[in-house]
Amino acid sequence: MNFELKSFDLAAAAAFKCDALLLLVADGFKPGKDPLSQFVQQAVKAGDFETKAGKLLQSYQSAAVAAPRLVLAGAADGSARQLRKAVAAGVAACRANTVKRLLVLVAGAEPDDHGVRQLVQAAAEASYVYVTTKSVPEGRKLQKVTVGVADANAVRQGFAHGLAAVAGIEMAKEWGNRPANHATPTMLGEAARSLTRLPRIKCEVLGPREVAKLGMGSFMSVAQGSKEPLRFIVLHYNGGARDQAPQVLVGKGITFDTGGISIKPAAEMDEMKFDMCGAASVLGTFRALGELQPAVNVVGLIPSCENMPDAGALKPGDVVTSMSGQTIEVLNTDAEGRLILCDALTYAERFKPAAVVDIATLTGACVVALGGVHSGLFSPSEPLAAALLAAGASAHDSCWRMPLDDDYAEGLKSNFADVGNVGGRAGGAVSAAKFLQRFATQYPWAHLDIAGTAWKSGAAKGSTGRPVGLLLDYLVAQQASAPVAAPRKPARKAVASAARAPRKTKATPAAAA
Ligand code: BES
Ligand code: MN
Ligand code: ZN
Repeated sequence: MNFELKSFDLAAAAAFKCDALLLLVADGFKPGKDPLSQFVQQAVKAGDFETKAGKLLQSYQSAAVAAPRLVLAGAADGSARQLRKAVAAGVAACRANTVKRLLVLVAGAEPDDHGVRQLVQAAAEASYVYVTTKSVPEGRKLQKVTVGVADANAVRQGFAHGLAAVAGIEMAKEWGNRPANHATPTMLGEAARSLTRLPRIKCEVLGPREVAKLGMGSFMSVAQGSKEPLRFIVLHYNGGARDQAPQVLVGKGITFDTGGISIKPAAEMDEMKFDMCGAASVLGTFRALGELQPAVNVVGLIPSCENMPDAGALKPGDVVTSMSGQTIEVLNTDAEGRLILCDALTYAERFKPAAVVDIATLTGACVVALGGVHSGLFSPSEPLAAALLAAGASAHDSCWRMPLDDDYAEGLKSNFADVGNVGGRAGGAVSAAKFLQRFATQYPWAHLDIAGTAWKSGAAKGSTGRPVGLLLDYLVAQQASAPVAAPRKPARKAVASAARAPRKTKATPAAAA
């Protein structure tokens, strides 16, 4: 889908040729003399439209506008949150018919960077359609969205951030939604490699032999029950100074989780194709970084394999040796996410990271605790937790801080190894985080449990693309606090700079907010 940003007033918008005009009307609306204003005012007077959130009025071939369809959507106080809701309702209303070109604009409030970003993301979200494994792909109908604002130059940053987020979120959705036979560890590796066509991104994909050499015995033990070979994906985005410590993202990439020998019940087991949504969010975030080009260094690590029951599969009670040297008693083979993440967390040490954030569909317990609203955030670092909470709020992709008291680790004690891979049922999301914490001792660390937020069940079954929005916001904000990038050596710069967008040295308040 294509987006463009243009300066418009209501009169110009009314004359604009497109398939539909979506006018988001906020409480502050004051009618002018133009026909479109008059139309809105009459509808309000007649009681047929209100600026309340969620209110809609559709009309066809109205004399007030050149577009055949006019949709009014109530945008309440005109805040980013309300604009998001209004766009969602308005675009959904257009989805049933043949709208290819849409003009969206706001009356009664002027969206800032933040508002424009949400507006772009909401329009993409409401028109997204999955097609990859349909025999007759009926794709998204909406082709082009023009965002009209009073002064386009004032909100270019927010617009660019929105476009990058959309590209990243849609990549995460695509890989999340693909069934497991269309999203194997090998295919994830290829998807990661394809990101290197974007500037400043490098990728390396390790296979079973290299992973064995690294001593990732815990990761390998999960993969051993599957015919699909494991992959360990290493991505680099170099937007900052060479000596700037990177942010490391680690994504759980279980392409299908049967539970292994501790097999899951049949009901809804299909949803375990989404068990690589942490990995998909890392891929999507790199896609977004490649678009937006912020001045930060980021490393992405994805351990990826299937969790299958098989003659060669890991058995309950087996003891495996992790890359850190710690031995683990595998009491439940369905607690496999932590077994692959722990080795990736040890591998992360070599980058001397500024911070490490892992993202994982880790526990059903987190779904029980927080539902689909907030992702679970676990971190012993106050500044890192604060930065992630702020990014979540700003991106409308929120997380909620959970505890990490040592008392929650009691259940992980083992008589036969250094640690067991499960605690009791109670507090299961926290004991999982406590397990990971044992391997994240060398840097500031946070864990996001996205089991409840990464996908939706039921009629709307599908990947949400979360938490790409949160991660992008977090990384963009890091460039403000990071030292300003030193210029690169001229020889390298001459080759590379032509293909690059100008690098920002400082986040704008909107991008960092
Ligand atoms: N991938 C699941 C977590 C999950 C379950 C996400 C349901 C979304 C919905 C994970 O690998 C898992 O199976 N976790 C177990 C851990 C338990 C055995 C300690 C769980 O949550 O039941
Ligand atoms: Mn599992
Ligand atoms: Zn799992």
